[in-house]
Amino acid sequence: MVVGDASGAGPQPLLSVRRLKVFHGKFEAVHGVDMDVGEGEIVSIIGANGAGKSSLMKAIIGQVDRVEGDIRFDGQSLAGRATADIVAGGIALIPEGRRLFPSLSVEENLALGWEVGRKGEITLDDVFELFPILRERRRQKARELSGGQQQMVAVGRAMLSNPRLLLCDEISLGLAPTIINDIYKVIPSIRERGIGIIVVDQDIGRSLAVADRFYCMLEGDFSLTGRPRETDRDTVMKHYFGL
Ligand SMILES: Nc1ncnc2c1ncn2[C@@H]1O[C@H](COP(=O)(O)OP(=O)(O)OP(=O)(O)O)[C@@H](O)[C@H]1O
Ligand SMILES: [Mg+2]
Repeated sequence: MVVGDASGAGPQPLLSVRRLKVFHGKFEAVHGVDMDVGEGEIVSIIGANGAGKSSLMKAIIGQVDRVEGDIRFDGQSLAGRATADIVAGGIALIPEGRRLFPSLSVEENLALGWEVGRKGEITLDDVFELFPILRERRRQKARELSGGQQQMVAVGRAMLSNPRLLLCDEISLGLAPTIINDIYKVIPSIRERGIGIIVVDQDIGRSLAVADRFYCMLEGDFSLTGRPRETDRDTVMKHYFGL
């Protein structure tokens, strides 16, 4: 179901997904979905546990066994391209669970983003401006940081790969509300750079509040899509749980 005016990514979206199926071995986790993300657009994907949100993120960045359908980035097909190549082309994933290197320092973890990414204008200083605490902690090992600070490193590492599209998979999971606020506060400034952003979050309220458009995922399909301000909580919850 579509609520309101769901178009918005423009005639040539940054990311365009068509009839996408995602497989883990023989298991089909995503059943043929269409999705667009425009430059500087924030798109939220909500859905219950196991709905297929992470499968969709991993498919975009080339980390699943097999896909069917079409994923286009800036008009170019991503079919058959390796993750390293996709990242160097301008898509970054902040993975569920952060995946930092615990024994490397903050600075070393951040540098990895720079090494694997697209060459562009975002520097270490820009990241330290977004998250000043990381400048103070830059020589500490990642494992010595709090969960919130580790998540800031994960965001910073993705930013340093100079993405044009940023995929955020559960960036607030397990963090205290004040820390989550600190992390969400940087999202509009990332968008101002023209970067398209996909936000996957358990916190539906927060995720919809930051988004221009949203897709609600139910058992591998989109059950509802539109603009958060053109729908209401009851409609969203109905499609979230498939009632
Ligand atoms: N590597 C895998 N091998 C087999 N099945 C998988 C694999 N990864 C995910 N799945 C299955 O695919 C379905 C979708 O999982 P996915 O992780 O994409 O959901 P999700 O919406 O991200 O859930 P969550 O909110 O728990 O993170 C689930 O049924 C899950 O068990
Ligand atoms: Mg997930």
